[in-house]
Amino acid sequence: MHTQVGIIGAGPAGLLLGHLLHLEGIDSVIVENRSRDYVIERVRAGVLEQGTVDLMIRMGVGERLRREGLPHQGLYFSFAGRRHHINLAELTGGKTITVYGQNEVVRDLIDARTATGRPLHFEVGHVTIHDMDSERSKIRFEHNGREEEITCDFIAGCDGFHGICRPSIPEGSIKHYEREYPFGWLGILAEAAPSSEELVYTYHHRGFALFSMRSPKITRLYFQVPPEEDIANWSDDAIWDEMLQRLTTRDGWQPAIGPIVQKGVTPMRSFVAEPMRYGRLFLAGDSAHIVPPTGAKGLNLAATDVMVLASGLAEYYAGRSTRLLDDYSDICLRRVWKAQRFSWWMTQTLHRFPGESEFDYRRQLADLDYITGSRAAMTSLAENYIGLPLDIQLA
Ligand code: FAD
Ligand code: PHB
Repeated sequence: MHTQVGIIGAGPAGLLLGHLLHLEGIDSVIVENRSRDYVIERVRAGVLEQGTVDLMIRMGVGERLRREGLPHQGLYFSFAGRRHHINLAELTGGKTITVYGQNEVVRDLIDARTATGRPLHFEVGHVTIHDMDSERSKIRFEHNGREEEITCDFIAGCDGFHGICRPSIPEGSIKHYEREYPFGWLGILAEAAPSSEELVYTYHHRGFALFSMRSPKITRLYFQVPPEEDIANWSDDAIWDEMLQRLTTRDGWQPAIGPIVQKGVTPMRSFVAEPMRYGRLFLAGDSAHIVPPTGAKGLNLAATDVMVLASGLAEYYAGRSTRLLDDYSDICLRRVWKAQRFSWWMTQTLHRFPGESEFDYRRQLADLDYITGSRAAMTSLAENYIGLPLDIQLA
């Protein structure tokens, strides 16, 4: 079997890329090692930048997003018992963010893929990639008990941080930059109507907490825990107790409580692989870079990567020009590093680090007081949170 672009991974990056290529008339095969249900039900990101929403609408996969997504004009920073509003739209000339679960994005993209009739194989085993430095790269995998091989003009490594594509690149051809954080996030989904229409990022003496949502009936909440925390140590009552201690403000605002329907702990990491390419293998999304979730950037970076990659591949198939493909890594990394900087900044501003002193605590409060009190500081925060532009115009 031969395809123009072999795509490993059916997360947001792989599925968006597959559909963008479809719209350009370019063939692809997507292989995913998990089941369809697992991929659709995996609870992760929730915040889409304006550019990601615009992309989905332009691609013709934004109908449900437009209907069910929750557009937000702003957000709150909460500290010392008070919530401070930041009006993102007013500070960025009318741009907004939209709360729409990553699993809903994935569901819409799987439906769109299925409607095209192009191949998307779930539950494949033992995926390996070969000859990435040749014009006939290969993907091998097991599917329905059979060994399969696909030759490809290009391979897109969209298989996330723990995938096989990045580790398949020969040692020394790619550089890694990494930082781990001394905490993780304990996250829950609760059947409770959100008690605020906008997100609340909280800095508390006991540690970071975040109020978010998924729908008018579902609240999404997180708080900072030690990185190796076992979720089994946390009863639902203990979770609510900690949430309320951190999130409740002096005016009596607090999240509404309801049955917890999902809970888990996520580690936090910053990571960049450079360049995002080896021969005919292009890395996109979390396989190339990870940001801590405090800036809500991961899925949005994945969307921008594949937008650039799809344009480069379209340019290649239209006229054999490799100009944009050659610049792919540089174009993406320029934006990725700025998102790294922002995500790191949000993380260190809103979390408590082990060993911090009271001086550090008060300094961080002063930082937050400045951010929420200065229009210049708020504008900088807003333009980063809403999503920085790509520095080039794609066709
Ligand atoms: P993934 O979603 O990881 O997809 C990779 C796919 O490849 C998976 O389906 C995986 O099963 C598959 N795969 C792996 N190995 C193989 C293999 N060997 N063969 C075949 N397939 C394979 N981002 C935001 O933008 N906004 C947010 O609000 C936000 N919040 C977050 C909150 C949490 C708690 C977490 C954990 C993440 C959050 N993120 C957020 C980050 C976001 O979820 C990721 O950046 C996003 O999933 C990246 O998409 P991806 O397609 O690159 O990778
Ligand atoms: C979420 O709703 O899951 C969410 C929101 C904002 C973040 C991270 C996650 O920064």
